[in-house]
Amino acid sequence: MTYIKDGVLETTIGGVRGILAARRANPVVLVPTMGALHRGHIELVEEARRLATPSGTVVASIFVNARQFGPTEDFGVYPRDLDGDVAKCEAAGADVVFAPEPGEVYRPDASIDVRELSLSKLLCGVSRPGHFEGVCLVVLKLFNITRPTAAVFGKKDRQQLAIIERMGRDLDLEVAIIGVETVRESDGLAMSSRNAYLTPEQRRQAPEIRRALLDAAAQCRAGERNAATLIGRARASLESDAPLGRVDYLEVVDATNMQHIESVTEPAVMAVAYFFDQCRIIDNIDLNP
Ligand code: PAJ
Repeated sequence: MTYIKDGVLETTIGGVRGILAARRANPVVLVPTMGALHRGHIELVEEARRLATPSGTVVASIFVNARQFGPTEDFGVYPRDLDGDVAKCEAAGADVVFAPEPGEVYRPDASIDVRELSLSKLLCGVSRPGHFEGVCLVVLKLFNITRPTAAVFGKKDRQQLAIIERMGRDLDLEVAIIGVETVRESDGLAMSSRNAYLTPEQRRQAPEIRRALLDAAAQCRAGERNAATLIGRARASLESDAPLGRVDYLEVVDATNMQHIESVTEPAVMAVAYFFDQCRIIDNIDLNP
């Protein structure tokens, strides 16, 4: 093991580049996060540790990226716990935690944007205009700062994962994009920093989101291929079993290009966003024909 024991926390681009300069003979694996880390994030760090091998370097970044929040979204109240996060990252095997201040990442007169023109137009891209531009910009910057051999993302944010894979492909980035399965609470609810916003009664209904997706996958396995039928049934069960919330979107898309499909003939994904008041929960499931 060659973990860097002291000074795991780095707040400057120069600092993190200095550490990595001496360690490029072995893998460098990046885990981008916005902090307030839960078990889902930690499994990404653990996967990064495995991928990096003991001699490689795991970098976890913690940066609440204002650029990916809409003007009415929760940037101001997004949970923050840097000390706790650093301890958790270190325990999970991270060598470096890169947690820059906003001014370190964005110059006041920054004028370059990164736009994805296809996969980002549906699903979360509709209800969160500009969100994926902000994600692509910060992830590309983190890639350029750390120049990782691999970067690890969660499948909970399936559209984000697909967009980053597309960015890697289309911009010829030399980084392997690795997806990790969604980590869930024992009742099936996908872990999320935003689950803390749910009232107890909303929290009791939230696992219905997972149940509706599991039902859809089971119906698909049993031979139902029609996307509209699968969507209609999932929507009806959510409306009856999780009445405190409402559907933002519930769609069936191709697993690679995130475009709508009418019939599940190739690997597909059912993706859902569900609002409980201001708290928006997203989840998805693979539909395999
Ligand atoms: P954040 O929401 O903090 O998530 C960081 C990473 O953790 C993402 O790859 C996300 O998919 C993954 N993740 C979140 N919940 C998970 C769960 N329950 N199981 C498995 N993985 C989970 O996603 C972002 O931050 C940002 O958009 C970021 C990529 C850091 C760019 O700012």
